[in-house]
Amino acid sequence: MALLRILQYPDERLHTVAAKVSEVTDEVRALVHNMADTMYAAPGIGLAATQVDVHQCVIVIDTSNTHDQLLVLINPEITASSGESDYEEGCLSVPGIFEKVRRAEYITVKALNINGDPFVLDAEGLLAVCIQHEMDHLIGKVFVEYLSRLKQTRLRAKLKKQQRTVM
Ligand code: NI
Repeated sequence: MALLRILQYPDERLHTVAAKVSEVTDEVRALVHNMADTMYAAPGIGLAATQVDVHQCVIVIDTSNTHDQLLVLINPEITASSGESDYEEGCLSVPGIFEKVRRAEYITVKALNINGDPFVLDAEGLLAVCIQHEMDHLIGKVFVEYLSRLKQTRLRAKLKKQQRTVM
């Protein structure tokens, strides 16, 4: 088990756009395992490779109450979406901040699994929100960037203060 360091907003590296995985190798599988360990230990319900400073399209998610339903999405693509939902989101890269974000309520996503096999998944509710949140990380977007300029400025000030306190 290896825990990875999670980048903290507003770290510039969180704005890196991830590259597609060309082949699901043992190296990619090791990354997935370490990301899952890191997510469960945090604890969180989703983690994108971007957040651990690896800029490849890899996501791990587990929205189950039992924490034993790991979902791995490699090179995910949303092929259909509908509806709207406002969900209060948090992020392991922005600790202690929870804000409502509007996203699609239903999505269809295609991706590769840990064996490199393609699959299609229909998701709704929390899972749909989580997939969209993590896919944003892969294009360098953090959920707080959906907030107004004013809210973002306040948020950065608050986070700076928190960092000072910890140090
Ligand atoms: Ni996040």
